[in-house]
Amino acid sequence: MTDAPARGAASGGTHANGAASGGATPLWGGRFSAAPSGDLARFGASLEVDKRLWPFDIAGSKAHAQMLAAKGIISDADAEAIVSGLDAVGEEIASGAFTFDPTVDEDIHMAIERRLTELIGPAGGRLHTARSRNDQVALDARLFAKHAAGELAGEVRALMETLLSRAEAERETVLPGYTHLQPAQPVLLAHHLLAYFWMFSRDLTRLEAAAAAADASPLGAAALAGTTYPIDREMTASILGLSRVIENSLDAVSDRDFALDLIYAATVCMVHLSRLCEELVLWSSAEFGFVLMDDAHSTGSSIMPQKKNPDFAELVRGKTGRAVGDLVGLLTTLKGIPLAYDKDLQEDKEPLFDAVDTAANALSAVRGMVATMEIRTSRMAEAAGEGLMAATDLADYLVGKGLPFRDAHRVVGGLVAACVGAGKTLQELTLAELREASPLFDADALEWVKIENVVARRTSSGGTAPSAVEAQIAQARRRLAD
Ligand code: ARG
Repeated sequence: MTDAPARGAASGGTHANGAASGGATPLWGGRFSAAPSGDLARFGASLEVDKRLWPFDIAGSKAHAQMLAAKGIISDADAEAIVSGLDAVGEEIASGAFTFDPTVDEDIHMAIERRLTELIGPAGGRLHTARSRNDQVALDARLFAKHAAGELAGEVRALMETLLSRAEAERETVLPGYTHLQPAQPVLLAHHLLAYFWMFSRDLTRLEAAAAAADASPLGAAALAGTTYPIDREMTASILGLSRVIENSLDAVSDRDFALDLIYAATVCMVHLSRLCEELVLWSSAEFGFVLMDDAHSTGSSIMPQKKNPDFAELVRGKTGRAVGDLVGLLTTLKGIPLAYDKDLQEDKEPLFDAVDTAANALSAVRGMVATMEIRTSRMAEAAGEGLMAATDLADYLVGKGLPFRDAHRVVGGLVAACVGAGKTLQELTLAELREASPLFDADALEWVKIENVVARRTSSGGTAPSAVEAQIAQARRRLAD
């Protein structure tokens, strides 16, 4: 960062363009004798990041111009020229015909206004009446956040639908349920998949709350204190489909809670996706073998021909770190800035966009993986079928015969130790062996430990018994119908 010219230095060229090290005249060139040097201009610019706000910037400016004309602040003719000029700029940007000029286009707001004035002349210079980039950028970011929250909510719904339909098809598939990643008690695969359904259902709620947080207009706050012009803030808000105006102009230009809310919602969603992906990585390993990832959703190795890697699941897990970073980054940026607008706030957009993009891409990748993975029900059944997972049920059996649970736990603990020593499963124990441990065991204990019975007994609401899962599927269907 070399040769930054001293602001207000008396000598030198006539205007910004005159400074040898400076760029072209910026929109605020009036009181300056030099523009920031190339390095500083690049450092201060946000165009490359905020370019994508253009549709929202154009919508906001059109609404503002319409309001200015309705209130007699600019003429109808000027407003019409501005609105059609902004449409023309929008078409240029959409078609790729727009040429950004990095020497003057510090951000997307300046680029659009610059081009508008080139196209329509002096009327373009009237657009910024009763407005500042401070309320303008806050508006654009809110419109973006509201839109993006809706898009993410759509992706989340689609994933919920995919999980639910796979769950509906796996009403009878049993697999081990784990705690500490040790086989604990058998569960239905439908039950396991629905656990994720409910996580994403909460993400949906959080995204809806984030959309509602963004849904307020800061326009009319101007730089920070409001404006002397007889504007109508409700009018611009309603043209833009925003449901309310922000009560305080200082808060309007400096509040980025809506961005935090959306990043938080996206980040929690990424954490859920990451946990699901971690299971897909484990389940697709040779050791588990519970699922076979679809070829189009995995990659091979450049050296080991036998490899099929769950790369995309790993990448979702890895990218979750970015989202967490986006959240912590913006929280940290915001924590120390005084009212009202400070340039620090320009740093809101990268984490906001990154969290949204990361979550959107991850959601669609995971939906593809879940939709296409082959479920190896026989491997799951084998892992769940015979073993030690009926131990709790065996203890419950003794409780049913009147033994205190602690004593029952000790009796079954002894049986488990015997099984481990003999390399046997609980299902392989004979009635004689059971009765040796406790005379309370009767012949029905042999049926009692069968895995399908272990699953079927957990009929408590929210439990894994087929009847309870059936009720849960109906609840999930209702949630999606909302
Ligand atoms: N690019 C700026 C941002 O994103 C726009 C607002 C600039 N306002 C200002 N007073 N410098 O925050």
